Amino acid sequence: MAAFGTVFMPKMALATYENHAWTPSSMVASDALTLHPGAHVLHYSSTCFEGLKAFKHEDGSVKIFRMDANIQRMAQSTELLFLPDIDKDQLSQMIKDVVALYANDVPSAPGSMYIRPTHIGTEPSIGKAAVSSETSLLYVLLSPVGDYFAGGVKPLRLLLEENGARCASHMGMIKSGGNYASALGPIARARKENNADQVLFCPNGDVQETGAANFILIDGNEIITKALDASFLHGITRDSILTIARDMGMTVTERNFSVDELIERAQKPGTEAALSGTAAVLTPVGTLIHDGEEITVGSGEAGETTLKLRQALNDIQWGRAEDKFGWLTQV
Ligand SMILES: Cc1ncc(COP(=O)(O)O)c(C=O)c1O
Repeated sequence: MAAFGTVFMPKMALATYENHAWTPSSMVASDALTLHPGAHVLHYSSTCFEGLKAFKHEDGSVKIFRMDANIQRMAQSTELLFLPDIDKDQLSQMIKDVVALYANDVPSAPGSMYIRPTHIGTEPSIGKAAVSSETSLLYVLLSPVGDYFAGGVKPLRLLLEENGARCASHMGMIKSGGNYASALGPIARARKENNADQVLFCPNGDVQETGAANFILIDGNEIITKALDASFLHGITRDSILTIARDMGMTVTERNFSVDELIERAQKPGTEAALSGTAAVLTPVGTLIHDGEEITVGSGEAGETTLKLRQALNDIQWGRAEDKFGWLTQV
């Protein structure tokens, strides 16, 4: 099977912002863009994006999961990057239109259609290092994805990184390419030197998030995860899992916690840890690597509560459980 994110639907929805207004959106070929080599995004990284999914239900209908929350986060990223404001209704229509166009191509469970709205600054000006782009381009690309967990759920190995940060602390809540570029080096080193799957960034001992997912700790009936602040991405899966957990009667504690506390709790039998994200859903963490030492989380295997929460989320996404929080949008 092709690697995640490498297959694209042939058309995408696209709109441009020029002369202080958005053009009507249109469907265009998704294999090329015309950009001036001096475009703002190529030099000063004026870019943000989203990642969400559409699911095929057993009755053949297609539903988009938490579209409004993703559009809201894109509007926020756009604003924090001083890109031209997006028109949320227009983006919602663009997403619905392109998913409807390819409704027949949405893979059945356990696959889904990954949706990638992208907003980039296009003004041809290499003199605007400290000034925002006055023109921009917004497009919605689709990529059918298979089962992320084909071959079973293998608990991840995370390197705890206390000295570096994923990105600059005021950028964390922006879903922008530069943040991923900033984390590439530390993650590549952790893979090579520690055989780690990912890095859990813990600047100055504060347990934050990994390169592409949020981190949660499960201790009996309690879920503990970092409280929202500007330093990390406010995951929509994180919010969904916490909502489901509360609904199941679990105690949800959003607070900061340290590497020391994490290591102490991880060693208790029954403790579970997991990563949450649109691609990862909820992936168990089996090992933490800290100062050259390997710490097994709980039993080191996928935890029972992790699997139960993941199943509950998947059941809503695929229409096997009631959409009691109103998270699905009909295409
Ligand atoms: C850095 C980072 N943190 C957290 C997440 C999780 O966000 P979401 O649950 O909205 O996909 C992502 C994206 O998946 C991410 O890239």
